[in-house]
Amino acid sequence: MNIAVLPGDGIGPEVIEQAVRVIAAVAPDIALTYAPVGGTAFKAHGHPLPPATLAIARAADAILFGAVGDPDCDALERHLRPEQAILGLRKALTLFANLRPARVFAGLESHSALRPEIARAIDLLIVRELNGDVYFGEKGFRTTPSGERQGYDVMAYADSEVRRIAHVAFRAAQGRRRRVCSVDKANVLETSQLWRDVVVDVARDYPDVALEHMYVDNAAMQLVRNPGHFDVVLTGNLFGDILSDQASMCVGSIGLLASASLGERQTAHGTFGLYEPIHGSAPDIAGQGVANPLATILSAAMLLRHSLGLAAAADRIEMAVAGVLADGVLSRDLGGSAGLVETGDAVLARL
Ligand code: IPM
Ligand code: MG
Repeated sequence: MNIAVLPGDGIGPEVIEQAVRVIAAVAPDIALTYAPVGGTAFKAHGHPLPPATLAIARAADAILFGAVGDPDCDALERHLRPEQAILGLRKALTLFANLRPARVFAGLESHSALRPEIARAIDLLIVRELNGDVYFGEKGFRTTPSGERQGYDVMAYADSEVRRIAHVAFRAAQGRRRRVCSVDKANVLETSQLWRDVVVDVARDYPDVALEHMYVDNAAMQLVRNPGHFDVVLTGNLFGDILSDQASMCVGSIGLLASASLGERQTAHGTFGLYEPIHGSAPDIAGQGVANPLATILSAAMLLRHSLGLAAAADRIEMAVAGVLADGVLSRDLGGSAGLVETGDAVLARL
């Protein structure tokens, strides 16, 4: 078994290092192949996703990804910016299904941006489509008839793109509380009308799962009003990006949310996928040893479960993380003072 490790920029390398220590502790025989991505790769090789990195990622059983984003690169043409590394990997490897679980850890209820009694009930899974939508539609700049500069990004979804992500959501719901809330903007957007029609059609295959539809503005409101309402939230690329950051603050910190990006390709022991914390590269705190590595450690647990068939090891890691938080080992994002390495040490001690 081989994991491609892509640390990236900012705090990416340091949170990855802690996750790698955890993987080595529970599964010492796994081979790790490191490769550069993001601004780091651009600076060294002239491209945020060099062909050699893509080849290493493709050849692995799974990818552990840190974060990309570097203010030094903000002025580059879009196709050379660090973010293109993660967007390029998702697209090139057909990783269309992004799973972003959000639940409140015992003892952290008071760290939520919501009142503890509301936060306590959060246990949801955002299933976000990753290969389409306004992210990958035609985009550019043009001049209007009146001579004004105009930017445009086309939002589009094909039937088959919606169908395959809907199946992922319904299957996930079958292993949970059997409820899917499909989030769209069908009152305004044709893309969303098609989304809704296809989701209704797919739902016929899952009579045991309850389906509801919600407009994205209402979903944003319900996520803070009554987040316990949600089980599986099925949504498109853009809405899922926004709602998952919002969900992280409901949980308490963006430093706690892991994610898996899966496609259809099977490996020897599971599904090929890319695993990353949902947070970014946080250049303002990079290198200070204060970042929270738990989202990346939890992403590593998802990797072991979904791509390598090591469910017991994944459970152990998740229990260790829950234990560390219950012990009050809190990093700065959670109002505590535990450093990066100290948090990693605490997880290892628990393991
Ligand atoms: C995420 C990030 C990415 C996205 C960026 C870095 C391109 O915000 O994974 O949520 O927008 O998908
Ligand atoms: Mg995001």
